[in-house]
Amino acid sequence: MEGTDRFITIALAKGRLAMQTLDLFEKSGITCDEIKDKDTRKLIFVNHELGLKFFLSKTSDVPTYVEYGAADLGVVGYDTIFEEGRKILEVLDLGLGKCNMCVAGPAIAKDDLENGRIRRVATKYPRMAKDYFYEKKHQTVEIIKLNGSVELAPIVGLSEVIVDIVETGSTLKANGLEVLETICPLSARVIVNEASMKLLRDRILALINALKEGLCE
Ligand code: PRP
Repeated sequence: MEGTDRFITIALAKGRLAMQTLDLFEKSGITCDEIKDKDTRKLIFVNHELGLKFFLSKTSDVPTYVEYGAADLGVVGYDTIFEEGRKILEVLDLGLGKCNMCVAGPAIAKDDLENGRIRRVATKYPRMAKDYFYEKKHQTVEIIKLNGSVELAPIVGLSEVIVDIVETGSTLKANGLEVLETICPLSARVIVNEASMKLLRDRILALINALKEGLCE
């Protein structure tokens, strides 16, 4: 088999998704106990038996590591894949971390949104917001990039609406906001470096198949 002497490196997005992903990997026979130790300061974890290395990185960096081949594989949400726009292969939808990308705001903004009268949109996802407002709705709006707690923007008058991830809807509700339009569903995807897919095809496909089987359990 090709490249058996070489480790396959897997990048995972830090946080809740990493834990869900690791559970799925475990079900699929791909184990890495060390990584689950919450007190560890280590950044990279090795399973010598399977020839795998894992590391946890900031979510938005996962596609970067995969594009440059520093990781052969990565697991990250579709929101990040779209936003980063990296040259990678998206090979499997794990269906984990399901949520929606939405336009949200106070109920009174609904009419303005429907009639193209929104002037400003605040978001952590400017690429997604531009694609939706410019390409799909053909509306000219100013997209304002924020780095977190985006729900604040319509409350303090920075923008009329936001483009953000909605999972349970409780953050919106707690702040007097609601979903006005749904842009697209989101979930975690497996991404692969293009060269790795050629060089290590059999081993990578075996990993993907193991994950598919883990999903069916
Ligand atoms: C995300 C999102 C919303 C919240 C939605 O924020 O930006 O704020 O989760 O979840 P809910 O619908 O279940 O309430 P995140 O936790 O990433 O924090 P941040 O926006 O402050 O970075």
